[in-house]
Amino acid sequence: MKNFLHLHFIFIDYDLSMATNHRRNIALHCTNIVKIFNSGEAEVKALQGVNLDVYEGELLMLVGPSGCGKTTFVSVVTALLGFDSGTCITLDHNLATMSDEAKTAFRGKEIGFVFQAFNLIPALSAAENVALPLTIFGTNKTMAFSHSKEMLKAVGLEQKEHFLPGKLSGGQQQRVAIARALVHQPKLVICDEPTSSLDHKSGQVVMELLKKLTKEHAVTMIVVTHDSRVYQYADRIAEMEDGKIIRVGKTDEKIL
Ligand SMILES: Nc1ncnc2c1ncn2[C@@H]1O[C@H](COP(=O)(O)OP(=O)(O)OP(=O)(O)O)[C@@H](O)[C@H]1O
Ligand SMILES: [Mg+2]
Repeated sequence: MKNFLHLHFIFIDYDLSMATNHRRNIALHCTNIVKIFNSGEAEVKALQGVNLDVYEGELLMLVGPSGCGKTTFVSVVTALLGFDSGTCITLDHNLATMSDEAKTAFRGKEIGFVFQAFNLIPALSAAENVALPLTIFGTNKTMAFSHSKEMLKAVGLEQKEHFLPGKLSGGQQQRVAIARALVHQPKLVICDEPTSSLDHKSGQVVMELLKKLTKEHAVTMIVVTHDSRVYQYADRIAEMEDGKIIRVGKTDEKIL
């Protein structure tokens, strides 16, 4: 398991800041983040000193064995979870000093989330699901639906706007979820296992879309994945093990 990455592609050590583009802005800056879960007697050190910078406009994949801390990490950097020590600056916000109210507003405005299980609301149409992040934060209905339709078009589902999630395929549901994650023009999008519930072909379609939208919408995308077949879509790959980032690399497309 330890070297599972290397079975699938040539992995070269690669620090973007030292190589091609040292002037790129940083979307996420983490140093020595420690997160400990205390559940009764047992203590789990889920993050054991994570160091990572993520650059604006890149698609970074976060990979590693089950239980190594990937979901905990993306929850910490989006202020869904607190942490015990270290520094986390997300989109210029120092999370350690933010109030709960500020964190909620920050997440609602600046972050988009895509989950393995799509998490669409079954009783709402595709267009209503996508409009939701806007209407919740007070955008008027006409404007919200206009943006919703634009996003559904961007994910190739303009014909499905009236469909309920239950009438869509898994791949289509995930594309609706992606439209919903991007409709409020967040700066950072977190995708936790976005292709794990999909067949291979739908997974590739979803990843191609995420890659395209990262560039077209100038967002920073962090994609947590177990699926080695989608590594090719990463700008960089961060490998996690036992609560630490042990390597950050880049696929070499010429060797692939
Ligand atoms: N709420 C919690 N309370 C206690 N322990 C937790 C909690 N959430 C996660 N953990 C523990 O923290 C560690 C990291 O979990 P995490 O969910 O971040 O792993 P993961 O890398 O996302 O795994 P997977 O690939 O299976 O989704 C695990 O040992 C897990 O059991
Ligand atoms: Mg997880």
